Amino acid sequence: MNALKRTVAIDGPAASGKGTIARSLATHFGFAHLDTGLLYRAVALRALQGEEPAQAARALRMEDVERDGLRDPGVSLKASEVAADPEIREALIEFQRDFARRDGGAVLDGRDIGTVICPDADAKLFVTARPAVRAARRHSELERSGHDIDYADVLREMAERDARDSERDDAPLRQAEDAVAIDTSDMTPHEALEAAIIAVGERV
Ligand code: CDP
Repeated sequence: MNALKRTVAIDGPAASGKGTIARSLATHFGFAHLDTGLLYRAVALRALQGEEPAQAARALRMEDVERDGLRDPGVSLKASEVAADPEIREALIEFQRDFARRDGGAVLDGRDIGTVICPDADAKLFVTARPAVRAARRHSELERSGHDIDYADVLREMAERDARDSERDDAPLRQAEDAVAIDTSDMTPHEALEAAIIAVGERV
């Protein structure tokens, strides 16, 4: 194993805390971070603007993942719809694997990183939280970013997305056998990060 090419794979359902953990772990270990959900969100946004989704996936550029509106609830739902299409997943694999193999180490978070994209990752985490906790977190994130949306709608849309992500045939959301599970429901972000640092630190 090349000491410079460490890979950390983090998976879990919506608003489980995996993004925050991934970003903070990357800072802690000095690794690069890729939020792979943004790739599916960027394809979804282009699809909502009328582009053919598979074509949008093949043509995806880094600028696309920096566009405004990627976190909008409509884009979240569309992202889980396009993410169920094997042609779209296939078009995004190489980009993610190249990122994972970069010098200096990488943290990738998503749904299928430990199972499909990086099955040989040095460390794998599966981050979960109870649905009501996740929906409350996402609801306050959305309110903070200026969205006027009911908690009940957030909970319902999240359940719909979780079901689609877990039940699809291609790369469904599931815990890799060798992943360490962290349930963040009753943890502060700091406690969740501490648990992640301990689990990852033993492996990288
Ligand atoms: O931030 P949140 O957890 O709500 O979602 P995200 O990680 O940005 O992912 C948005 C959607 O992209 C998910 O609901 C999945 O359908 C899809 N996705 C995926 O299929 N595989 C990944 N590795 C990452 C995201």
